[in-house]
Amino acid sequence: MVGNALGRMRARGISALWALAALLATAATPAVAQQATYIGEKACLGCHSQENRHFNDSLHAKLFRLNPRNALEGRVCEACHGPGSLHAKDNEKKELIIGFTRGWGTPVSTQNDSCMACHQGGNRLHWPGSTHAGNQLACADCHNPMERVSLTSSLVKPTINETCQNCHRQQRVEFNKRSHMPLPEGKMSCVDCHNPHGSTTKPLLKAESVNMLCTSCHAEKRGPMLWEHAPVRESCMNCHQPHGSNHEKLLVSARPQLCQQCHSPAIGHPGQFYNASQTAAAGSQLGGAPSPRIVARSCQNCHSQIHGSNHPAGARLQR
Ligand code: HEC
Ligand code: HEC
Ligand code: HEC
Ligand code: HEC
Ligand code: HEC
Ligand code: HEC
Ligand code: HEC
Ligand code: HEC
Ligand code: HEC
Ligand code: HEC
Repeated sequence: MVGNALGRMRARGISALWALAALLATAATPAVAQQATYIGEKACLGCHSQENRHFNDSLHAKLFRLNPRNALEGRVCEACHGPGSLHAKDNEKKELIIGFTRGWGTPVSTQNDSCMACHQGGNRLHWPGSTHAGNQLACADCHNPMERVSLTSSLVKPTINETCQNCHRQQRVEFNKRSHMPLPEGKMSCVDCHNPHGSTTKPLLKAESVNMLCTSCHAEKRGPMLWEHAPVRESCMNCHQPHGSNHEKLLVSARPQLCQQCHSPAIGHPGQFYNASQTAAAGSQLGGAPSPRIVARSCQNCHSQIHGSNHPAGARLQR
C-alpha cells in the first residue's frame, strides 16, 4: 500500500523524497503530554541560542517580542512549539515538544493546528479538505518562520516559484518549454493562478472557473462576442496549456491539427481537407503552390478571429 502511494505521487511528478517523508510522518503518532506548562523563552534560549540567531530576524520574532497582541503571542517560542516545561527536563522524548521538522515526528495535524490557532480563515478558509491538506502537507513544508529566507511570507525558499517547484518538478519542466507563461522571467508566480491554501475550484484555482481565471488578465478574450467560438466559451484549455507548451502561444497542438481535431471534413468546409500533400515542402516538389490552409497561421490565415468576432459579418470568424 505504501509502495502504491509512493508510485502514485511519483507518477504525478511529486518528489519521491518528500513523499517518503510524508508517509513516515503519518506513521508516527506521538502526542504532546497534557501536563506541560509554559516556561518562557529565556529558558529555551539557554539551550537553543544557535536557532535563535536566525530566528531573531524573522517577522514572528519581531512581532511577538516587541508588539504581542495577546498572551499567546507573548510566549514567543512556545506560541508555536507549545508549552515546554517537560521538554526542558527531558529533551530525548520527542513527544514532549511540538517539532515542525519532518524527522521529529510530531503528527502533521498537530503541527498545523498550532499555526492555525492564529491563522485560521482568510486565505485559509478552504484549507480543511484541500488537496494539500489531504496529502498531509504541513504549513512548514512551505513556510519556515525560524529564518528569513524569503523577502515576504516566510517561505522555505527565496521565491514562491522555487517553493512550489521543490515538489512540483513536472510543472518546472512545463515552464521551461518553448512557449510558456512568463513565470521563469519572474513576471508571474504560481499564486497568480493558484491558492496553495485551498480553493473551491479544482485544481486549487483562484477563480470560479478556468475562463474567469484567464480572462482576469486577458480581458479582451472575455466576451460576450457577437459571434462566439463555442470551444472558447467552454474552456481556454480546449486549445491552450496553462503552464507551457512546445507549440507556439501555449497551444495544445500545432495548427492545422488543432482545428481539425474538431472540424472534420464532414462539417462541409469548402475545399479539400488538409493532408501532407499540401505542405510547403510537398507543394514545391510537385511544382505547385502550398495550400494557404497549411502555411503560416494555417486556418487562421482566413479565420483570424479565433476567440470570437464582433464584426457584423464575422460569422465565420474571418474578421
Ligand atoms: C536543557 C536544554 C533544552 C531546553 C531548556 C530546551 N530545549 Fe529544545 N531541545 C533540546 C535538545 C538537546 C533537543 C534535541 C535536538 C536534536 O535531537 O536535534 C531539543 C529539541 C527541540 C525541538 C525539536 C527540534 C527539531 O528537530 O524539530 C524543538 C522544537 C525545541 N527543542 C524547542 C524548545 C523550546 C520551545 C524550548 C523552550 C520552551 C526548549 N526547546 C527548551 C534542548 C533543550
Ligand atoms: C511562528 C512559529 C514559530 C516560532 C515563534 C518559533 N518556532 Fe521554532 N520552528 C518553527 C518551525 C515551522 C520550524 C521548522 C523549520 C524547518 O522546517 O526547518 C521550527 C524549528 C525549530 C527548531 C529545529 C531546528 C531548526 O531551526 O530548524 C528548533 C530547535 C526551534 N524551532 C526552536 C525554537 C525556539 C527556541 C524559538 C524561540 C526563540 C522558536 N523555535 C520559535 C516554528 C516556530
Ligand atoms: C503548498 C505551500 C503552502 C502551504 C502548505 C502553506 N502555505 Fe501559506 N503561503 C504559501 C505561499 C506561496 C504564500 C504567499 C502567498 C502570496 O504571496 O499570495 C503563503 C502565504 C501565507 C500567509 C501570509 C498571507 C496570508 O495568506 O495571510 C500566511 C499567514 C500563511 N501562508 C499561513 C499558512 C498556514 C497557517 C499554513 C498551514 C495551514 C500554510 N500557510 C500552508 C504557501 C503555502
Ligand atoms: C500566536 C499567533 C501566531 C502563531 C501560533 C503563528 N503565527 Fe504566523 N503570524 C502571526 C502574526 C501576528 C503575523 C503578522 C500579521 C499577520 O499576517 O496576520 C503572522 C504572519 C505570518 C505569515 C506572513 C507574514 C510573513 O511575511 O512572514 C506567515 C507566512 C505565517 N505567519 C506563517 C505561520 C506558520 C507557518 C505558523 C506555524 C508554524 C505560524 N505562522 C504561527 C501570528 C502567529
Ligand atoms: C511539500 C511538497 C509540495 C509543495 C512544496 C507544494 N505542493 Fe502542490 N501538491 C503536493 C502534493 C503531494 C499534491 C497532490 C498530488 C496529486 O494528487 O497529484 C499537490 C497538488 C497540487 C495541485 C493540484 C491540486 C488538485 O486539486 O489536483 C496544485 C495546483 C498545487 N499542488 C499547487 C502548488 C503550489 C502553487 C505550490 C507552491 C505555493 C505547491 N503546490 C507546493 C505537494 C506539494
Ligand atoms: C496562468 C495561470 C497558472 C499559473 C501561473 C500556474 N498554473 Fe498551475 N494550473 C493552471 C490551470 C488553469 C490548471 C488546470 C489545467 C486543467 O484544468 O487542465 C493548472 C494545473 C496545475 C496542476 C495540476 C496538474 C496539472 O498540471 O494539470 C498543478 C500541480 C499545478 N498547476 C501547479 C502549478 C505550479 C507549481 C505553478 C508554479 C510553478 C503553477 N501551477 C502556475 C494555471 C496556472
Ligand atoms: C496574472 C495574469 C495572467 C493570467 C491569470 C493568465 N495570463 Fe496568460 N499571460 C500573461 C502575461 C503577462 C503574458 C505574457 C504577455 C507578453 O509577454 O506579452 C501571458 C501570455 C499568454 C499567452 C501567449 C504566450 C506566448 O507564447 O506568446 C497565452 C496563449 C496565454 N497567456 C493564455 C492564458 C491562459 C489560457 C490563461 C488561463 C489558464 C492565462 N493566460 C492566464 C498573464 C496572465
Ligand atoms: C479554439 C482554440 C482556442 C481556444 C479555445 C482559445 N484560444 Fe487563445 N489562441 C488560439 C490560437 C490558435 C492562438 C494563436 C493566435 C494567433 O496566432 O493569432 C491563440 C492565442 C492566444 C493568446 C496570445 C495572442 C493574443 O491573441 O493575444 C492569448 C493571450 C490567448 N489565446 C488567450 C486565450 C484565452 C484567455 C482563452 C479562453 C477564454 C483562449 N485563448 C481560448 C486558440 C484558442
Ligand atoms: C474543441 C473543439 C474545437 C476546436 C479545437 C476548434 N473549433 Fe472551431 N468550432 C467548434 C465548435 C463546436 C463550433 C460551433 C459549430 C456550430 O455552431 O455548428 C466551431 C465553430 C467554428 C467556426 C464557425 C463555423 C460556423 O459554422 O459558425 C469556424 C470558422 C471555426 N470554428 C474555426 C476553427 C479554427 C480555425 C480552429 C483552429 C484554430 C478551430 N475552429 C478549433 C469546435 C472547435
Ligand atoms: C483560404 C481561406 C480559408 C482557409 C485557409 C480556411 N478557411 Fe474555413 N472557411 C473559409 C471561408 C471563406 C468560409 C465560409 C464559407 C461560407 O460561408 O460558405 C469558411 C468556412 C469554414 C467553416 C464553416 C463551414 C460550414 O459549413 O459552415 C469552418 C468550420 C471552417 N471554415 C474551418 C476551417 C478550418 C478548420 C481551417 C483549417 C484547417 C480553415 N477553415 C481554413 C475560408 C478559409
